[in-house]
Amino acid sequence: MCGIVGVIAKQPAAQMLLASLGKLEYRGYDSAGLAILEEGVLDRRRAVGKLSALVQLVADRPLPGTTGIGHTRWATHGGPTEANAHPHRSGPVAVVHNGIIENYLELKRDLAAAGYGFESQTDTEVIATLCASMLARGLSCEDAAAATIAKLRGAYALCFVFDGRPDLLICARRGSPLVIGLGEGENFVGSDAIALAAMTDRICYLEEGDWAVLTRDGVRIHDAAGNPVTREVQTVALETIIADKGQHRHFMAKEIHEQPSVIARALGAWISDDRHRIACAAEAVDWSGISRLTIVACGTAFYAAHVAKVWMERVARLPVEIEIASEFRYREPPLPARGVTMVVSQSGETADTLAALRYAKAQGQITLGLVNVTTSTIAREADIVLPIHAGPEIGVASTKAFTAMVLCLSALAVMIARKRGAIDAAGERAHVELLSTVPRLMSETIALEGQFEALARDIAEAKDALFLGRGLMYPLALEGALKLKEITYIHAEGYAAGEIKHGPIALVDEATPIVALAPHDALFEKIASNLREVMGRKGRVALIGDAGACREMGDEVWRSIALPAADPLLAPFLYAVAVQFIAYHAAVAKGTDVDQPRNLAKSVTVE
Ligand code: F6R
Repeated sequence: MCGIVGVIAKQPAAQMLLASLGKLEYRGYDSAGLAILEEGVLDRRRAVGKLSALVQLVADRPLPGTTGIGHTRWATHGGPTEANAHPHRSGPVAVVHNGIIENYLELKRDLAAAGYGFESQTDTEVIATLCASMLARGLSCEDAAAATIAKLRGAYALCFVFDGRPDLLICARRGSPLVIGLGEGENFVGSDAIALAAMTDRICYLEEGDWAVLTRDGVRIHDAAGNPVTREVQTVALETIIADKGQHRHFMAKEIHEQPSVIARALGAWISDDRHRIACAAEAVDWSGISRLTIVACGTAFYAAHVAKVWMERVARLPVEIEIASEFRYREPPLPARGVTMVVSQSGETADTLAALRYAKAQGQITLGLVNVTTSTIAREADIVLPIHAGPEIGVASTKAFTAMVLCLSALAVMIARKRGAIDAAGERAHVELLSTVPRLMSETIALEGQFEALARDIAEAKDALFLGRGLMYPLALEGALKLKEITYIHAEGYAAGEIKHGPIALVDEATPIVALAPHDALFEKIASNLREVMGRKGRVALIGDAGACREMGDEVWRSIALPAADPLLAPFLYAVAVQFIAYHAAVAKGTDVDQPRNLAKSVTVE
């Protein structure tokens, strides 16, 4: 994680860097810092906590100068203290870093033996010190940076500035993204294109192992072997203002509420003009010859994949394996010849998911990347890119990206079903019509917000909570528990309801609310029995069902909320809204930081 930015600008650098860091805060918000050259002399400001602390510090102690670097941190090595905040400096060198240097202890030991001291616990200070040691040997800035980079093992996006060189930035990437922005008489670098959008619309992405030298007048790029290379310059039309909260108190609330329009937009992009068929780039694959689809993802994206597994198996009769990326990449499983692997990622930058994609590619798989950020590394490396069209998601807890992923994966299942002969044209049309009802059903569910809020106020009092579901509601139970724990810090577990008697039922007591996701579908009688088992042990069950389910459970349950009745395949969209609102309103009741919960970052670019 961590966000980095660097500018050689015509204007004062501090305001530009701070504005860019604001766009990058999703990558971490443990601390932030700037290093700027004022009349050729390097100076730094660093502050613990959110960017606002740094903004205040720079207002109190301004940093003039037009060349500088900035950083927003998600702590990896060393806690979130000022000493560990970037930029790190050693003599004439300051550096910002995103990633993890695996051999930093080894390098640190050698540098310490050579007499260099350290102020922080970070791996990044070792980079600055290594570079300073190269300069001390008489190397030029460029050669010193290149020699430093050559010694690093691990993942990095780096940007160096040098005392006395207000015309120079050197940056490098391996494993972490980095984008160069091209201006007139000014040049920029940042972790993503959105960070640079206010400065320029001409960007170029560095490739793995590339390093670049930026001056006021130009940019020179070298590949990992040091050869000069050119990288394609793209003109991107990015929104300079990512989003505002509108009338909402938090981005998460806004993003929950905008789901009906997000889903409508995503569906619009995935269906043919006559609205009869699913149309997407994955049609190029010969699905009739595919024996198995592997889907790899992390966190909420993994739960979307879990929903997709059910859709693909049921509608397309296609066997699907779902895998957590951090396990998949090191297990190195055999993949079927002529197979397809799909990675799912909102950010398109998640380190484990990206590594899984690369592994699958190396195994000769056809790779699909289902992403929200279409300028991301996964989007650029996958054979076929499938955008989810959710728009920028700012709340760290994923909401609209989850339902947009589920929508696109469901649409994909329908297309694959047609290609495999599992449904005919009429069947496909019926499925498209079914999916077209999702925005309305989600709007009707959103209208029940007051009921979710009332339930959430009670759940906010609890120390632990259980979420139960079966079939398509099982991944939703997992997602509900994840949402609750990440933004309220209440311990929550999601379980397949049939599984709780094999252990978790021991947790059941009067103090632990049990949120049961139970539409009146083919599995309702089964989950009703499971709920009676927990209620018989004094469990307090909050039933999130439909009218049929609520009627059947009647007064037996502690609470019940009836969602609109829907086709069982569509239930995930509605129950997603329910669990999102429960987590959101419980967090508001507890007063936690909804949009930027502790210890998290939106884009997880470290493994
Ligand atoms: C939870 C959440 C995370 C992400 C996960 C993967 O609300 O947002 O679990 O889903 O970090 O991120 P992406 O989808 O960017 O690969």
